[in-house]
Amino acid sequence: MDSDRLADCDTMAPDEPNDHRWEDWTWDETVFRGTAAYYRKGREPYSRGLGQALAERIDLAGPSRLLDVGCGPGIVALLFASLFERVVGLDPDPDMLHEARRVADETQVVNATWVQMRAEDLPGSFGTFRVITFAQSFHWMDRPRVASAARQMVESDGAVVQIDVLADRRPPDGPHPGVPEAAIDELRRRWLGTDRRAGQGFRNTSPSEEDEVFRAAGFAPEEIVIVPDRRILERSVDDVVARVLSTSSTAPHLFGDRLDEFVNDLRGLLLSHSPGGYFSVALSDNRLLIRRPI
Ligand SMILES: C[S@@+](CC[C@H](N)C(=O)[O-])C[C@H]1O[C@@H](n2cnc3c(N)ncnc32)[C@H](O)[C@@H]1O
Repeated sequence: MDSDRLADCDTMAPDEPNDHRWEDWTWDETVFRGTAAYYRKGREPYSRGLGQALAERIDLAGPSRLLDVGCGPGIVALLFASLFERVVGLDPDPDMLHEARRVADETQVVNATWVQMRAEDLPGSFGTFRVITFAQSFHWMDRPRVASAARQMVESDGAVVQIDVLADRRPPDGPHPGVPEAAIDELRRRWLGTDRRAGQGFRNTSPSEEDEVFRAAGFAPEEIVIVPDRRILERSVDDVVARVLSTSSTAPHLFGDRLDEFVNDLRGLLLSHSPGGYFSVALSDNRLLIRRPI
């Protein structure tokens, strides 16, 4: 995986400092603590054509099941739910799963199950799946271990699919200014320091070379599918605040009892760039990395 090209707010930019690299980081359960309440509002939607792109490339006929690993608030699992007989969303963060359950109930999705668990504890006793997805989540995991578990769990005619958001954004050709990303990052640094926070530690880079990891676990080389979505969205100050608070490196818990103060600063910054309180955002392309077992 070329992590430098990813727009994922939890993936690092190429100009980050050279220490606290991903190899030195240890996972802990606070990585996404407190972000669930902001996630759906804050994160930009996946491309509209994502489900169709998946269904065109993998035979989903018959009693097919999806396992969405690192499902967060269930966005991908619920987006794909109608394509499968059953979907299982797995995530260690209880608030994320609570949110996933809430939305599943609200939207009357009845074929989804939510499991609180780390991917490293797979395969467990879940059986096999036609498709196993990792949407902006694989880089948080013990990758060789999880890829090997996925190899045991994926059906021979199925696939493991990574879903990314690519960073090459179009200029926001809309009625409002673009989101001032550099200024937001500068505010993060002022509040939390130069190194990028991740749970109780720091993580300035994300791992690459994921195709090698999957190949070593018994998968064929990746098939890359780009799924564009040309929409320009109007995002409010509240939406952008939610996006910042949905991100691991600016997760609410990192601000302790000064969260309100940070949010005030952030709102002030955003309003100084857009007094009307709105921003135009060009949706980034999504990318499917499809890996079939050999
Ligand atoms: C950036 S969010 C992506 C959420 C969702 N897949 C989406 O695309 O909207 C990453 C998710 O991975 C989960 N995660 C992090 N480490 C994990 C692990 N070791 N096992 C399973 N899930 C993990 C986090 O709790 C978080 O919900």
